[in-house]
Formats: sequence, C-alpha cells, structure tokens
Amino acid sequence: MIHRAIIPAAGYGIRNLPVTKSIPKEMFPIAGRPTIEYIVEEAILAGIEEILIVLSRNKNEIMNYFDRSIELECILSARGKDYLIPKITPPKVRIHYIRQHEALGLGHAVLLGQSFAGNEPFAVLLPDQVSLQRTSMLIPLIKTFDNFSTNVIGLQHVKTELLKNYGVVSAKRIKQRVFDIESIVEKPEINPPSNLALMGRYILKSEIFELLKETRPGQGGEIQLTDALSKICSTSGMIGYAYKERWYDTSIDLDYLKIQQQAIHMNL
Ligand code: G1P
Repeated sequence: MIHRAIIPAAGYGIRNLPVTKSIPKEMFPIAGRPTIEYIVEEAILAGIEEILIVLSRNKNEIMNYFDRSIELECILSARGKDYLIPKITPPKVRIHYIRQHEALGLGHAVLLGQSFAGNEPFAVLLPDQVSLQRTSMLIPLIKTFDNFSTNVIGLQHVKTELLKNYGVVSAKRIKQRVFDIESIVEKPEINPPSNLALMGRYILKSEIFELLKETRPGQGGEIQLTDALSKICSTSGMIGYAYKERWYDTSIDLDYLKIQQQAIHMNL
C-alpha cells in the first residue's frame, strides 16, 4: 500500500505567463474546479491518506482552497443553500504544505518531502498532467509497484516532435504495458532514446532522496528529478507502465481547452 503522496506545485508557470503572474496554474479551473482538486482526488481514489503539497510564495490560494470557509458555509446556510456546502467542503485527506523558498527545480521540490515520506515508498503527482478517467491513474502504478517491488513511472507514447518537452526513457518491453527502464533523459533536444515519455506520475522508494541530494543542476539549470531517476535505474531498478488513456497537459492552451470541454461533457 502507498499511503503518502507529494504534489509539487511551486513552479513559476512560465509557459502560462502572464496569467500565472498572479494565478497559480494549479488553480486554473476545469469545469469550475481547480486543476489541483482533480489531482488530489486521483490520489484519494488510489488510497492515499496524506498529501504534501510543495508551494512557493505566490501559491497561498492553494492552501486557502483546501481550507474550510466557515463564513461561506454560514452564509450558504442562512440563504437556504445548504446543498452547496458539500461543494466547498475540503477533501477527506490530510494535506500538509511546505514551501520551496527558491525555484531550484522539481528534484529539489521532491527532496523537500523527505521527512514527510520517511522510509516508505511514496507517490509523486505532477499537477499539470491531468486525466479525466473515473478510476485513479495511480492505481495501475501502485499495482505494478506491488508486483515488482521497485520504483515505477507512468509513461505514454508521444509524437516525436513533442518529446523535447518531456523526460524520455530508454527501455525494454517486459509485458504489453510494462517496461524495464534503462535510463531517462530530460527534455532531449536531439536523438530521443524512444517515444515513451514520463507523464508526471511516479511511485518511488525512499532511496531516491539520497540520489537527489547528490544531483547537480541539469537541464534548464535546475535540479531535475529525472536525473536522480535515471541513476536509480541501475541501482534499485525502475519499471515503466505505459498508459493508453488520454492525458491533458494543462500548460498547453489547446489541451487546456479540450480538457474543459471533456470535463463538461462528462458532467464532472
Ligand atoms: C516535468 C518532468 C518531465 C515530465 C513532465 C511531465 O517537466 O521534469 O520529465 O515528462 O513534467 O509533465 P515540466 O513539465 O515540469 O517541465
């Protein structure tokens, strides 16, 4: 069982400027609910009991959103609109927060979760990759972790021209959707090792923290989670699970538009 999940939400949202100057991209609405709420639900549906959200100084809205608003509850009650209260009630999971004081990269953000995760394996969910599946996309990763007892990453086949936006793996197929990962390269500009890209879902053993501590700034001058993951492939091993389901990248305008249409269509 995986009990804890880290959601890194401390980035500047540079791909979505200027709106991200004041609105965190994790708060972008999808059918009236912030993107990060879909991510938290995905974690809860997979049995996660505690979540650590890594924030930066402009992201207080995220904490406010997951807090109770007693005032609003009273107002709704007084106006006979109690039926709306469940909509504003925080999700049933323990959420903790930590601030990343400097944007040193995704690897550094995950490292801030070391004492939260302790010695147990944990999940990482990147909040700009969203799937609208009714079952949690973490579940197949957790099952794969249980089968192989090693680190697991979520993958998807991506068009060659888009691979430069993702971590890309070098891998051998073991079963239809399952791959043995040999190495990973972050955002390859040339010669991507395959068409399989990281989709922002990870189940990791706590050994990753020691590797993250040793990881020097990489692509984009940031401490990359991918670089530590690539090292762990040759030590404790790494399995990839290739999703067939549709993922939406909310930092891409067209995908953001499509996910909203799909969410409304599905009545979410
Ligand atoms: C991050 C990861 C990358 C992964 C991507 C998925 O990149 O570093 O390996 O493929 O998320 O969304 P970012 O999108 O934060 O630049």
